[in-house]
Amino acid sequence: MTSQTLREARKYEEASEKMITEKERPAFHLSARTGWMNDPNGFSYYGGKYHMFYQYHPYDCQWGPMHWGHAVSDDLLHWEYLPAALAPDESYDRDGCFSGSALTLPDGRHLLMYTGVQKQGRGNGASEAQNQCLAVGDGTDYEKYEKNPVITGADLPEGCSVSNFRDPKIWRKEDGSYCCVVGNCDRDGSGQVLLFTSRDGFAWNYKSVLAANDGRFGKMWECPDFFALDGRWALLVSPQDMLPSGFEYHNGNGTLCLLGAFDEEKGVFKAEHDQSIDYGIDFYASQTVLAPDGRRIMVGWMQNWDTCDFRTQKLSWFGQLSLPRELSVENGRLYQRPVRELERMRRNKRAYTDVAFSGELTLEGIKGRMADIEISVAPEDGEDIYRKFAVRFAQNDRFRTSFSFHPQDSMLKIDRKFSGSRRAIIHQRRSLANSADGKLKLRMILDRFSAEIFINDGEQVMTAIIYTEQDADGISFLAEGNVRMDIVKYDLV
Ligand code: FRU
Repeated sequence: MTSQTLREARKYEEASEKMITEKERPAFHLSARTGWMNDPNGFSYYGGKYHMFYQYHPYDCQWGPMHWGHAVSDDLLHWEYLPAALAPDESYDRDGCFSGSALTLPDGRHLLMYTGVQKQGRGNGASEAQNQCLAVGDGTDYEKYEKNPVITGADLPEGCSVSNFRDPKIWRKEDGSYCCVVGNCDRDGSGQVLLFTSRDGFAWNYKSVLAANDGRFGKMWECPDFFALDGRWALLVSPQDMLPSGFEYHNGNGTLCLLGAFDEEKGVFKAEHDQSIDYGIDFYASQTVLAPDGRRIMVGWMQNWDTCDFRTQKLSWFGQLSLPRELSVENGRLYQRPVRELERMRRNKRAYTDVAFSGELTLEGIKGRMADIEISVAPEDGEDIYRKFAVRFAQNDRFRTSFSFHPQDSMLKIDRKFSGSRRAIIHQRRSLANSADGKLKLRMILDRFSAEIFINDGEQVMTAIIYTEQDADGISFLAEGNVRMDIVKYDLV
């Protein structure tokens, strides 16, 4: 039965979506149907399609009472909106249906698990309960479970926060039983991930603290995801309140990938490697799906809480998801590559090989805001060894965004300072690259309002949103010293 609150949201979104033209949106990244979007939720393959839900406030371009928006796709790139799936319409979720996940039940129904938020009291005595809830549906309409909430603060051991207890990620094991990981923090406000198990997906038992932060990576850990990948286990989380550490982690909301071993009996994960998931400016709250062909595919919110004031256009949507990325573990690290489906969108190939230059360069046919560009750069023989290589894009007389590499200190930089922002917020980010002899490989994916730069075949990714006017579509290259470059560029249509 659809509630009045959900019916209103569905009516509203259907009418207001029509006010947004195709060109006012990204071409192949999912954006809010109308109003506000944050985290991807319930990323799953159900009924022959990929389903994506998202944190959604349809009525405004600001965060508000959370609904779940919904879209489906055959290829992870072309999305069709479906009616909003969840609204905050029950006592246990009246202050928001927060992030969660989805899976297919053996009887063919689609199960959603999300965090129901309920505020209690006012003023100094105010508190918030975050509990895990279920909804079951057919891929369009979802019914909240009559025994909600199914995991509450009462299920938690001493010392676990009951007000920072959110973002369940569920999966079904090969033996047919279920697990879920939920973000939490301890008495000191330090993040941890809790593991729960269930025989049927409906009745849940606390199992263990899967992993504890112990004050290392920020504070509260949001949006956990946990899965086996290439013989290892990967725990992805989005920590709040990070302190910087070298060029690996930066201040504020960050992303963290831990790779290690999982003792299933004890329910304990032991991390052996840590890294950022994305080294750019705008990426948070990642979630993965296991595709029918075995690929582990990840998306994130292509945004950061700390940079939400970066808006230059008056659009009636806010928030987009990253490109879905295929994950692997290589050389002990997490690698990410754009989903291979993107190659089907490639048109108008332009290729140049062995372009030796120094100074500024533009190349005939190399421009555009919806493009897939592969670049290899290497030092050119000669006296003037290069000290900097840069690609400038979304460029016109006034604006540009740039990506640069300084081989001497192996430093990468994304800089969207000149992309039209009038806000004093972060517009640049640096990261260390793994580059031998000044060589670097890049794959840049541009889509109207964003750039995602995959470095050295996916060893690192730097993501940033840009709102530069669309006719700023120039691309140029800059070298201080002599470089040699190969480039292949496709339009994405
Ligand atoms: C992460 C997050 C989640 C929460 C949701 C609320 O971006 O804070 O922890 O469920 O957003 O919208």
